[in-house]
Amino acid sequence: MTRHIVCAARDLPPGARKLVHLEGRPILVLNVKGEFHALLNICPHQGASLAGGILTGLVESGEPGDYRYSREGEILRCPWHGWEFDVKTGKSWCKPSRIRLKDYPVAVESGGALVEGPYVAETFPVSIDDDYVVVEVATARVAERGAAGG
Ligand code: FES
Repeated sequence: MTRHIVCAARDLPPGARKLVHLEGRPILVLNVKGEFHALLNICPHQGASLAGGILTGLVESGEPGDYRYSREGEILRCPWHGWEFDVKTGKSWCKPSRIRLKDYPVAVESGGALVEGPYVAETFPVSIDDDYVVVEVATARVAERGAAGG
């Protein structure tokens, strides 16, 4: 892991985001309510930049007509197709299905028992050192050169 200084902490206040390129990777650093998080800026669905996505909250429901809104500003919605990712873990809450008519088995389960989406946005450790935001990224491997490449 290599540590990279992204910016002074005061330059990334709560609600702000900064896109940087570290070790050849586009990484989106966000300040959510004073906590810093870093995500690979490539949506695992079809590759959109997540930097233009809106931060929203989580809507959960135990039954039709009953819902709770929580975690305001902690869910990042992809600007292309709206998949949502937990900024803290990178986990997706979406599992798109194919468009077709088919019979499916039906069961009743609590919301908390449902499986989370199969796609996860890659996250990176973020810390504050002497008031600077620091992101740790695995060092990029240098491509092996062919014999003719010198
Ligand atoms: S590319 Fe992000 S939801 Fe489709």
